[in-house]
Amino acid sequence: MSTAKKEYKRVTVKSLVDMKKNGEKISMLTAYDYSMAKIVDAANVDVILVGDSASNVMAGHETTLPITLDQMIYHASSVIRAVERALVVVDIPFGSYQSDPKEALRSAIRIMKESGAHAVKLEGGIEIKESVKRILNAGIPVMGHLGLTPQSIYKFGTYTVRAKEDQEADKLLEDAKLLEKLGCFAIVLEKIPATLTKKVSESISIPTIGIGAGKHADGQVLVIHDLLGMTHEFNPRFLRRYMNLYEEMGQAISHYVTDVKSRDFPSDEEQY
Ligand code: KIV
Repeated sequence: MSTAKKEYKRVTVKSLVDMKKNGEKISMLTAYDYSMAKIVDAANVDVILVGDSASNVMAGHETTLPITLDQMIYHASSVIRAVERALVVVDIPFGSYQSDPKEALRSAIRIMKESGAHAVKLEGGIEIKESVKRILNAGIPVMGHLGLTPQSIYKFGTYTVRAKEDQEADKLLEDAKLLEKLGCFAIVLEKIPATLTKKVSESISIPTIGIGAGKHADGQVLVIHDLLGMTHEFNPRFLRRYMNLYEEMGQAISHYVTDVKSRDFPSDEEQY
């Protein structure tokens, strides 16, 4: 395993597999709009995920279920316009791929054609095998997503850690091997025990990207609003906050309100 870090001018699906081979961890973050994507890309994040978590953090829904394909394409095209280096992966939203593989392919093609994205992500294992195959056959790179799959929240009933029992853990491992065999280039593992992440990551040659899945994943992903501390009421154990933007932005905005009310803003220098 080499420790030298290779510079990637443009991250591709192949770069990610190379990173795993070379023992370099992969960084992935969500973004949903142009301004945020520009900052994330300039900070050298390898993969930008236009996640269906936009449904929660951008639109204020309780779950990821309500966001539509058109809305995902709108977010994805805003992100694509900002990005020069990162690989941009877009979630196919709930209701746009579950009914049949042809619908799945149509949705994937719309995302690629209308937004300019580089790859799509779907939730599930064996249940979506035919859809994954069909999308891959059309030349569209696919990222898998196993463990806690938020589009199935009403089936699970809670957002707690998945695959703690042997049966579910065995199925997850088999699903990961299947997604690799089908030709997926990476798999997100969400909220599963660290020991299972280790087992999965050692059993497949494509990278695993964890969220609440521990240190053995080949990469990590967080929702940008969580990392920046904008979603201050969301406090899962796996989340490391790098800022407290909820407070900092609140203070800045209150300061602006005070300045407007007191006639301090605008000053003589701030007018024409
Ligand atoms: O939608 C999303 O943000 C995701 C990540 C949590 C992996 O799928």
